[in-house]
Amino acid sequence: MKRNNKIYIAGHKGMAGSAILRKLSGAGYSNLLGKTSGELDLKDRIAVNRFFKEESPDVVILAAARVGGIWANNEFPYEFLMHNLQIQNNVIDAAHSYGVKKFIFLGSSCIYPKYSPQPIKEEYLLSGELEPTNQWYSLAKITGIKACEALRRQYQKDFVCLMPTNLYGPGDNFDLQTSHVLPAMLRKFHEAKNRDHASVKLWGTGSPMREFMHVDDLASAVLFTLEHKLEETIYNVGTGKDLPIDELAVLIQQIIGHQGKIIWDHSKPDGTPQKLLSVEKLKNKGWQSEIALEEGIRNTYDWYNMQQNQNL
Ligand SMILES: NC(=O)c1ccc[n+]([C@@H]2O[C@H](COP(=O)([O-])OP(=O)(O)OC[C@H]3O[C@@H](n4cnc5c(N)ncnc54)[C@H](OP(=O)(O)O)[C@@H]3O)[C@@H](O)[C@H]2O)c1
Repeated sequence: MKRNNKIYIAGHKGMAGSAILRKLSGAGYSNLLGKTSGELDLKDRIAVNRFFKEESPDVVILAAARVGGIWANNEFPYEFLMHNLQIQNNVIDAAHSYGVKKFIFLGSSCIYPKYSPQPIKEEYLLSGELEPTNQWYSLAKITGIKACEALRRQYQKDFVCLMPTNLYGPGDNFDLQTSHVLPAMLRKFHEAKNRDHASVKLWGTGSPMREFMHVDDLASAVLFTLEHKLEETIYNVGTGKDLPIDELAVLIQQIIGHQGKIIWDHSKPDGTPQKLLSVEKLKNKGWQSEIALEEGIRNTYDWYNMQQNQNL
């Protein structure tokens, strides 16, 4: 990969996209291209084709998507299915038509079957029933992965899908209604500390096991994929380690310095008991994650505090 290759990062302002932009720019890639959804709506096929014709990127990294937690998926099933399909169809097909040399598509660990054996291997995709709460999003993502697989098989195109585990880090969404578990906890403990609340209420029992990876580790996996020829389409990207949600809560509480009690709201659902990716496939190619959970959460909390201070 040449440092002056033109690389289009779709979704460069999002949590994953902005981390990828920082990583590639830090690695010396100088011809990076990004457009906000206001500048280029990836749901608009004509606009996407015009963009590819004008810019002719060598590489595309697709980190643009309609993303959200259980509440958002449940509330907007049509948009989670249709917008993701439209974005992917337009970008993947334009990349194919306009001769993009390397394409990296971000899938997600949450699109594997609900009852996958643990740790989850790449080959378990489509081997069982989907998690009903995010089936809309999952079906769209699976279609994108299959499109990449078909292009590799039929046209020998270098299209790769990375399947990240739960991500967190700078640029995360801290809105309590639409955020994922880690940023939601971080915000709850932060507010409880600042408002002297004696307790913090969290969803479920705290017993499910989950894996979390700092978004800079995902960006490093993207850089690795960019610079290495991988023979297959799908690779999991995770830390290979999980922990119970109640341990995560205690860790975040300690980092933030909140002294009170944690109350588990057992009336709220826990979700699947464990979700851990098998990371052997990419590890065998030479990549592994590096950021320890505590270090990553401290870094994210620093970023969160900086944002809060800027908004004062
Ligand atoms: N977050 C996680 O835990 C996680 C885990 C596994 C996989 N992933 C995958 O990583 C990717 C990025 O996720 P993220 O967490 O970084 O999401 P994010 O922070 O919400 O960013 C999404 C990005 O997509 C762009 N976008 C959405 N709709 C668009 C449209 N119609 N046209 C153009 N751009 C559009 C947004 O652009 P604007 O801001 O300009 O609107 C934004 O930059 C997704 O594919 C997701 O499935 C995320």
